[in-house]
Amino acid sequence: MPLKICFASAEVTPFAKAGGLADVSGALLKYLHADGHDVLLFMPGYSSIQREGLEIHPVDYLRGLSVTLGTHRYDFSVSTAQLPDSSAIAHLVDCPALFNRPSLYTSDADEHRRFLVLTHAAFICCQRMAFAPQIMHFNDWHTAAGTLLLRSTYAWDRLFQAARTVLTVHNIGYQGILSSTLHAEVLPGGPVSMLDAGDFAAGRINLLRTGLSYADRITTVSPTYARELRTAEYGMGMETLLRKRTDAIVGILNGVDYDEWDPRRDRYVSQHYGANQLGVKAAIKDEFLQRIHLSGGPRTALVGIVSRLATQKGFDLLFDSLPLLLQAREFNLVVLGTGEARYENFFSALQRRFPARVHFERRYSDELAHWIEAASDMFLMPSRYEPCGLNQMYSMRYGTVPIVRRTGGLADSVQHFDAATGSGTGIVFNDYNAEAVSWALNTALDLYQQRAAWRRLMQNGMAQDYSWSRQVRGYVEMYQSLVQP
Ligand code: ADP
Ligand code: GLC
Repeated sequence: MPLKICFASAEVTPFAKAGGLADVSGALLKYLHADGHDVLLFMPGYSSIQREGLEIHPVDYLRGLSVTLGTHRYDFSVSTAQLPDSSAIAHLVDCPALFNRPSLYTSDADEHRRFLVLTHAAFICCQRMAFAPQIMHFNDWHTAAGTLLLRSTYAWDRLFQAARTVLTVHNIGYQGILSSTLHAEVLPGGPVSMLDAGDFAAGRINLLRTGLSYADRITTVSPTYARELRTAEYGMGMETLLRKRTDAIVGILNGVDYDEWDPRRDRYVSQHYGANQLGVKAAIKDEFLQRIHLSGGPRTALVGIVSRLATQKGFDLLFDSLPLLLQAREFNLVVLGTGEARYENFFSALQRRFPARVHFERRYSDELAHWIEAASDMFLMPSRYEPCGLNQMYSMRYGTVPIVRRTGGLADSVQHFDAATGSGTGIVFNDYNAEAVSWALNTALDLYQQRAAWRRLMQNGMAQDYSWSRQVRGYVEMYQSLVQP
């Protein structure tokens, strides 16, 4: 049965991306639409969206709209944007006062209002379009308040009578915390008693906690993270609430859009290969090493990293271990990422110290991310926590062996290689410390010299199927379980 779904997200590939949230939102739109569902997706019409070459059109009947949050009134209109290579469309909420900023996220004082307006816009456009959603799917703190708004501001409207809410936690590390003095902006005219009393007493509103309290279903992006979230170690203060809501929680592993991430048809890389053409991968590596001016012959492993440089990603573990490993072992390192200064400084310093062996690019580049996946032999993700993680799945498809810590979606998608049986898809370590990550890198570098075993390991990974066309079934089943009486 086709479902009517309203979906709101702060990021959607290919229009605006800071991390995996964008890839997941874009893929859900594309694959739910392909599965016959009626998906109305809303995202901010950021000024940074590269509009050339995209089919973006203003919608006549979605012009001159407004929303008032406390004493602030925002006018907005809506454009549609065609998803490339799909007949699905995204709806961009055009509100220059909020979305004409240099970056997707800011630390400006009105950051919460930027995303509250997006959330309201989803409801207001459903009203304008007389679209009665069966499912309203919100993502992360940005749009979490939608589950509350359905029960408060929009509760009067029969259009939403059958709607059930889903809130997906992509990352519990970001919660949207504001001063309780802003309650009239979060809940216009609504009773303050609907907000968490503990937070309120402490002078705060926590948008994510609010959203989690009212969601009919809470999903997260891997089964392991769904369990971890209920522990003090990973719950970041949400564990008590989440333990109470255990019956509402489900973990659905993210998928990969193989139209975008497949070495047999990669749009950025100069040559293409499948599991039986690993010589081509070696040639891509040579070409790439020349481009980034790294030395080393064919038996020198290239380790790749593409990541937001945030504490979550575990790079603290490398501060002491990586310089020693670079001294002791023969391998090269390429890093693409931006973020916290201490990690940027660390990788810059490493590049200065080992100029022929370490290459660091402090920027965001889809093109370079694809080259790193195709050219590297190994891909390092030592995450402290990882709700799902996408690059380990991209890496496997490219025959680039993931080296990961056993947490969240990394634990669910990478199996440690067993040389005796030849089974497994990567190198997996357990403990969050420098010894463990050194052990993992040493193990990978040793194995890399054993050609047959390494080839097997690469091919095991390349044979995995994490396609969205499969993973999307988990979402459809979850939606259906909610709409059935
Ligand atoms: P997260 O969402 O926590 O950042 P994921 O592994 O789910 O982690 O997704 C990260 C996505 O962002 C991947 O598609 C990765 O290639 C991409 N990415 C991260 N940093 C960069 C960068 N500097 N340049 C290009 N792509 C990047
Ligand atoms: C987050 C998580 C990442 C996940 C992504 C998409 O930002 O950090 O692990 O893959 O969201 O769900």
